[in-house]
Amino acid sequence: MDTRLLFQDADAFVIPMLAVFAVDVATGKDATPLPALLTTSDTISRAAERVLSSGEFKASVGETLLLHAPSGIKAERLLLVGLGKAKSLSVDEIRKGAGTAVRTAKPRGFRDIAIAFPEDHALSDEHLEDLPCALMSRALVEGAELADPDYDIYRSDRVDRSLRTLTVIAREAEKATSAETIAGFEEGRIIAAAQNFARDLVNEPGNVLTPTELGKRAASMCAEVGLACEVHSTEKLHELKMGAFWAVSQGSPEPPALIVMTYEPKLEKGGSPQVDAPVFGLVGKGITFDTGGISLKPGDGMEKMKYDMAGAAAMIGAMRAIAQLKPSVKVIGIVCSAENMPDGKAFKPGDVVTAMSGKTIEIINTDAEGRLVLADGLHYAKTLGCTHLIDAATLTGACVVALGKDNVGLFSNDDDTFIQFLSVLRKSGEKYWRLPCTDDYREQIKSQIADIMNTGAHRWAGAITAAMFLKEFAQDTPWLHLDIAGCAWIDEQRSWIAKGPSGIAVRSIVEWVRSYAT
Ligand code: BES
Ligand code: ZN
Ligand code: ZN
Repeated sequence: MDTRLLFQDADAFVIPMLAVFAVDVATGKDATPLPALLTTSDTISRAAERVLSSGEFKASVGETLLLHAPSGIKAERLLLVGLGKAKSLSVDEIRKGAGTAVRTAKPRGFRDIAIAFPEDHALSDEHLEDLPCALMSRALVEGAELADPDYDIYRSDRVDRSLRTLTVIAREAEKATSAETIAGFEEGRIIAAAQNFARDLVNEPGNVLTPTELGKRAASMCAEVGLACEVHSTEKLHELKMGAFWAVSQGSPEPPALIVMTYEPKLEKGGSPQVDAPVFGLVGKGITFDTGGISLKPGDGMEKMKYDMAGAAAMIGAMRAIAQLKPSVKVIGIVCSAENMPDGKAFKPGDVVTAMSGKTIEIINTDAEGRLVLADGLHYAKTLGCTHLIDAATLTGACVVALGKDNVGLFSNDDDTFIQFLSVLRKSGEKYWRLPCTDDYREQIKSQIADIMNTGAHRWAGAITAAMFLKEFAQDTPWLHLDIAGCAWIDEQRSWIAKGPSGIAVRSIVEWVRSYAT
């Protein structure tokens, strides 16, 4: 999709469909007032006046109403898009609203649409807090770009209905803040493209996207955006003594891939590298298919386990955006990719393996494989000089039981790092909920046979015991763990996004890294 931003009057723009946002301004006190449009254009307001006064349209989030041949404006159709209650309006609703506009256009075969930039000042302050232009324009592009893909590339009857152009039209009067609006727009484009890149990877079936193929796709992305990238396999795992990562991989004929992507910020002219500068390690779980191994999973729903590499995809996507946004900090992306298979050569419950850090691990369940590959990934990141670690993984079913599909499980060994991460969520619009991983839970991963074991002693707090296991390898390095098992796949399509891979965590990880840059 080609996105552009124009400064002119939306009512004079010739286009098959123009979308304008509406909010519900009801406060509950008096007779319910009609929804208000986020536009200062009298022409657009007049065109929508009649249908609005009918009370048929409530402006709830994702609600739409399509008017044909709207009087006085040049667009062939005017689409009203609800953003919900004015009082609680945030950039998230704008992201969803833009997505809803795109997903209304697609099935109707419109290839070119326009969206009127939301003019929050069209309403009085009692209704609405001022939202920064940069964030609004960023959310608009993100929402539209994320709404465009449908995951049907393997269907022979597929019709490509993706949009050709999206024009966001801000009024001439908004030009005062145009620099911010344009900057937000560019950022949104980069970040959404990176998130869509991650989603495409997650959508691939396990037979197409093997660890080797994941390595190839990461390498070609890196070449495209100017990142250094190394893709290693079995030999390197042995050389680095990554016994935990190798244990998972050994049951598959598909070789593992250890992908290392490096972003180095450009030094200011005449500047010298800062000695104590932070280095960020982004570590992703890249299980391209998780059968459970010898502790085989039940067959029902097993096909979903192709998305067990969504953490890896998030890190690859994040690196793509980082390469283009160029923050002034160094970032290393590490992906530990393998296929978890049952086989004569597979690792078994009862095996003891030695991780790269030297810790010995008793295997209780071969289906708890994500923490094993991440253990070596996290330790490796530290040996490469990372001072701050973040991992993303579809790690536990227990996290899905605890938080469902709306919040990612967030764990950290460091409150400051946690707070820094929280502070970027307004921008990214993703939801995270912190769960504990204090040493109270340490007891549960102690083993009789080895230093630790790869599952908890009992089935309580499964997401936490998994995090406790990872914490053993992060040690004192500030670390965040994102358990994205519940949020990586969208089961039901929404008015603003297709069902399928979500691309969760890309936006927040990128923003978190950028929040440390000068
Ligand atoms: N990949 C799964 C976790 C998962 C579950 C991801 C549901 C997405 C949706 C992981 O490798 C796994 O199987 N974990 C086990 C751990 C258990 C054996 C301690 C689980 O959650 O059941
Ligand atoms: Zn598993
Ligand atoms: Zn898994």
